[in-house]
Amino acid sequence: MRKKIVAGNWKMNMNLEEGLSFTRTVNQYFIEKPARKAEVILCTPYIHLNGVSEIIKKGKVGLGAQNCASEASGAYTGEVSAVMIKSTGAQYVIIGHSERRTYYHENDALLSKKTMLALNSGLKVIFCCGEVKEERETGKHFEIVKRQLKEGLFSLSAADMENIVIAYEPVWAIGTGLTATPEQAQEMHKYIRDLVNEKYGKDIAEDLTILYGGSCKPSNAAEIFSKPDVDGGLIGGASLKKEDFVAIVEAI
Ligand code: 13P
Repeated sequence: MRKKIVAGNWKMNMNLEEGLSFTRTVNQYFIEKPARKAEVILCTPYIHLNGVSEIIKKGKVGLGAQNCASEASGAYTGEVSAVMIKSTGAQYVIIGHSERRTYYHENDALLSKKTMLALNSGLKVIFCCGEVKEERETGKHFEIVKRQLKEGLFSLSAADMENIVIAYEPVWAIGTGLTATPEQAQEMHKYIRDLVNEKYGKDIAEDLTILYGGSCKPSNAAEIFSKPDVDGGLIGGASLKKEDFVAIVEAI
């Protein structure tokens, strides 16, 4: 069964107390008003993981990190491994976000390695892909997404693929207020599902959750989510405001 998901990506926002206080409010909201149609996940900075995990023990909200190290353990000052993330109680990790690809020069081979480490640690992976503005304008968007998936994901086994969620995040729509039209989102999501079908077969492709990310907000979420291959969203800016975040979850 294909799962619907709305995940908030806090990025580098909120200090410890702000994050925990936000989580208490959101968690309580979903205890009182369960999001029946979608799984709700908070993807927080590392410092929040343990505290958030304690809070959401009562309730239905899930937890993810936004990155993990590309090595399993050892002398890598400042890094946090997939095993460490898993030990906080988190179930998910975002890998390949465009901000990691752009600012930290993470390439397909590195992301493939991180994905394997995360899966081997028992985490599920929200794997991001998406083209930049110029690539869309020159008609290369399908080719770019295909490369990102082939190089980053398609060496996984079919069993591993069951623990993958793909997030299509056109880079030109992230934090810009520009949103892909529902038709553009559907077209790319369908393309992604077809690629997965070709590689892994119909059952895995049909069960795969594909999220849309990029300036998703209460005013556009319902229309984007109504498309048949859009199974929810990865929400940045709007996930930092409780009213907006829950309105987007309600939109599913
Ligand atoms: P915005 O919702 O702020 O555009 O960010 C999207 C995103 O990058 C989620 O990972």
